[in-house]
Amino acid sequence: MLTTELRELLNQMTIEEKVGQTIQLSADFFSEETEDITGPMNEMAMTEEKKFQIGSVLGVTGAEKTIKLQKEYMEKHRLSIPLLFMADVIHGDHTIFPIPLGLGATWDPEMIKEAASISAKEAAAQGLHVTFSPMVDLVRDPRWGRVLESTGEDKTLNKHYARAFVEGYQGADLKEDLTKLAACVKHFAGYGAPRGGRDYNSVDLNENTFREHYLPAYQEGIDAGAKLVMTAFNTIDNIPATGNKRLMREILRKEMNFNGVLISDWGAIGELVPHGVAQDNKQAAELALEAGVDIEMMSAAYSEHLVELVKTDKSLETLLDETVMNILVLKEELGLFDNPYRGADAEIEKIAIFSSENKEVALKAAEKSLVLLENKKALPLDRSEKVVLTGPMKNSHDLLGAWSWKGDKTKTPTLKEAMDNHLGKDTVKVIDETEIFNGAQSFLIAELQEADTVLVALGETSEMSGEATSRTNIQLPKIQIELLKELRKLNKKVVAVLFNGRPLDLSEVTPLVDGLVEAWFPGSKGADAIVNVLYGVINPSGRLSMTFPRSVGQIPIFYNQDNTGRPSEQGKPADKYLSKYLDSENTPLYPFGYGLSYTTFEYTNLRLSKTEVTSADSIEASVTVRNTGLSEGTETVQLYIRDKVGEVVRPVKELHDFKQIRLKAGESRIVNFTISEDQLRYTHADHTVKSDAGEFLLGIGADSTIELTHSFNLIN
Ligand code: GLC
Repeated sequence: MLTTELRELLNQMTIEEKVGQTIQLSADFFSEETEDITGPMNEMAMTEEKKFQIGSVLGVTGAEKTIKLQKEYMEKHRLSIPLLFMADVIHGDHTIFPIPLGLGATWDPEMIKEAASISAKEAAAQGLHVTFSPMVDLVRDPRWGRVLESTGEDKTLNKHYARAFVEGYQGADLKEDLTKLAACVKHFAGYGAPRGGRDYNSVDLNENTFREHYLPAYQEGIDAGAKLVMTAFNTIDNIPATGNKRLMREILRKEMNFNGVLISDWGAIGELVPHGVAQDNKQAAELALEAGVDIEMMSAAYSEHLVELVKTDKSLETLLDETVMNILVLKEELGLFDNPYRGADAEIEKIAIFSSENKEVALKAAEKSLVLLENKKALPLDRSEKVVLTGPMKNSHDLLGAWSWKGDKTKTPTLKEAMDNHLGKDTVKVIDETEIFNGAQSFLIAELQEADTVLVALGETSEMSGEATSRTNIQLPKIQIELLKELRKLNKKVVAVLFNGRPLDLSEVTPLVDGLVEAWFPGSKGADAIVNVLYGVINPSGRLSMTFPRSVGQIPIFYNQDNTGRPSEQGKPADKYLSKYLDSENTPLYPFGYGLSYTTFEYTNLRLSKTEVTSADSIEASVTVRNTGLSEGTETVQLYIRDKVGEVVRPVKELHDFKQIRLKAGESRIVNFTISEDQLRYTHADHTVKSDAGEFLLGIGADSTIELTHSFNLIN
């Protein structure tokens, strides 16, 4: 349909029908399984008639169900405007990939794009149109459980991933390619910085930091063509995002040039009342409409009050018309007016979902997401080693994470099952960790005595991270640390595998293990990936995209810190008046960009093509990387730059670029980077983004702890 035709359709709509398009209900309002829906219907100010006026539904999947509901809906809707089907396909649909924080550790945007494309294919075959992904919130606080859904603490890396997700979901032509979904960038904005790491709490970002670090990934997702943006639950400048007119109209729509559909998060319009900026749902509806929120997800402000508000205040009808046009345009971009059943196909669904090809990709993604944190000559394991497996996660199917949508845990191999597949049934002996606590005699357990290696599966259940799971203690459960202490007494090689959704305080764990693998929630093929890494079938290449602190007391801690007026490095250890702690180092336990390999890499011969650059040219930085170990491996070569003097303080270093290379043992390669003036721009005090002439320091290496050994000047 042309815009003029959409405009004609809009003009035929009654106010009630226009308001209907702005309402989104969850699946249980349409499910036969739901017993009594009276309560929720009342809460949502819904009637049977209004229910078939709404514009979108979330959480209905399965080709049969979506076709059936769409058919019923099209028959009942006076103008037969098709329904939009949306859902949380966050890191996979039926085939589950590692959680986004694990995908963030791959440093492989192409991998992310492939995972998103497969997720879209599985979801679209069920009749889904929109996914509430990518979540591009920048995170610096592992007390916040939703770091699990983020790709990490760095804006440059997050930008690459935001684009990869959107392109993977949407493809090149959303209307023609029925295997694609519309993407929804979320949560706008700054949701990853809640006060105290407590979910849904207010956010205290100053505007400069907000613009410099938090906005870029949203912008990249929008520039990549994301069709929707979702509002965040939190405040920005003490005004809840969902009712924040400046944030949504000035910054998002105008400055960031977003013209798509703005959807509230679940209940977020209604929450303007408890936030204390709306007297009641009526005022909340007005605030949200004025802020430009097009769709209200699961609260009743629009359904209860918008008709009456618009009837009494004509100026609101113009806003309502804009809102409805945004929704109609999205339906048109998805081709729903030509084919309301777009993509839904029970036959394709059967073969598309959880296919062996999809699982192969999930295996690759999981292998690339694993981060080798410690290896004191413990890994890779040799098949001849006698291994005993213990720990609370040894037989766990709970490897999919908190947002694993249609992922089926029962079809997710456990670590024990993967070990059996790899080594032969029961080659690895399993000891229940409770036995190890029954006092000294347990150490007479034959298998433990005979073992060469104890493999300990530790971590969190998926309920311990994700939404509404903020914690003040980010250590492993005490009992798990006690288990490691007991095992340490055995004088055997101890290798721990961690299943967790956030950076943990591993300070007590590190000294108790010889090998330590961070597995996150690795998805449908996670256990197989872990076994492949443990036995060296795959050489681990994961690099952290979020800092692991020494303790919760250091939070927020991230690599691109400000230098301060009294940097702790400048003084002698005895100096008191420096920016440091009395009881901890400033450095993290494991830094951004860190990860070990089974081989080693050497960086030499860092060269700059010149030491002066203008906005009209660029500098080539090259370095020789050599695999100095005995096995082939993948290295992520990272380029960091520091702007020595800025109008505002500039971080001690920032990731500017990275390249992943694979080198055989002994092989070396020259890796080149191009640095141009546009990469040196930053947010000034007046919010303009530009560069300043002056000196820059540069380093290239394996992680964010590298020294910046070279310098160059930007000249006007
Ligand atoms: C949740 C989350 C959001 C999700 C939405 C729909 O509360 O905040 O990320 O997409 O509701 O499930």
